Amino acid sequence: MNKQEILIQTQAYIKKTFLDEGTGHDYFHIERVVTNAKKILETENADSFLVELAAWTHDIGDYKLHEGVDKSEELIRAFLESINVEEESIQKVLEIVSQVSFSKGNKPTTIEAEIVQDADRLDAIGAVGIARCFAYGGSVGSILYNPYDNSKDASSVQHFYDKLFKLKDLMNTKTAKKIALSRHEYMEKFIEEFYHEVK
Ligand code: NI
Repeated sequence: MNKQEILIQTQAYIKKTFLDEGTGHDYFHIERVVTNAKKILETENADSFLVELAAWTHDIGDYKLHEGVDKSEELIRAFLESINVEEESIQKVLEIVSQVSFSKGNKPTTIEAEIVQDADRLDAIGAVGIARCFAYGGSVGSILYNPYDNSKDASSVQHFYDKLFKLKDLMNTKTAKKIALSRHEYMEKFIEEFYHEVK
């Protein structure tokens, strides 16, 4: 199978697996991450096949978190082996995916991992990020907002301070930094209006 066919097979598998996922990691999140990654690739010198393959597979483990155990490595390997991706590429994809997560606090060590991390983080901010934040909050039973509690995870609005407002300064690539800035400003306006309405 050539690289293009591998990417097509992977997209089909992800579509089938993630279509009904309801916590904000649905198929279209993953498709947007791939689109963001392609946009960033236009101005970076990187292996586009590895970037796209890692972007398509980056949430496979998240989707099937079993009692807090991250299954990314096992599940991504099993899928890529099933479509005969060569071992060297599998190892590189696993390394990229292991460096993407915000909660693990990993620093990317390759340009490919930097791009996928940026692409995933861009989908967590701006108008899409706002929508995903409240969708995720709803899925885990969080409240929208508590004016008396600004401790971590207290509400969906608190999540802007716990994570979303920090992301613009954590972008790796020039293209992502530029996109992040306008999405950040949009979130600031949203929160400003939110406080205005609840006061
Ligand atoms: Ni993701």
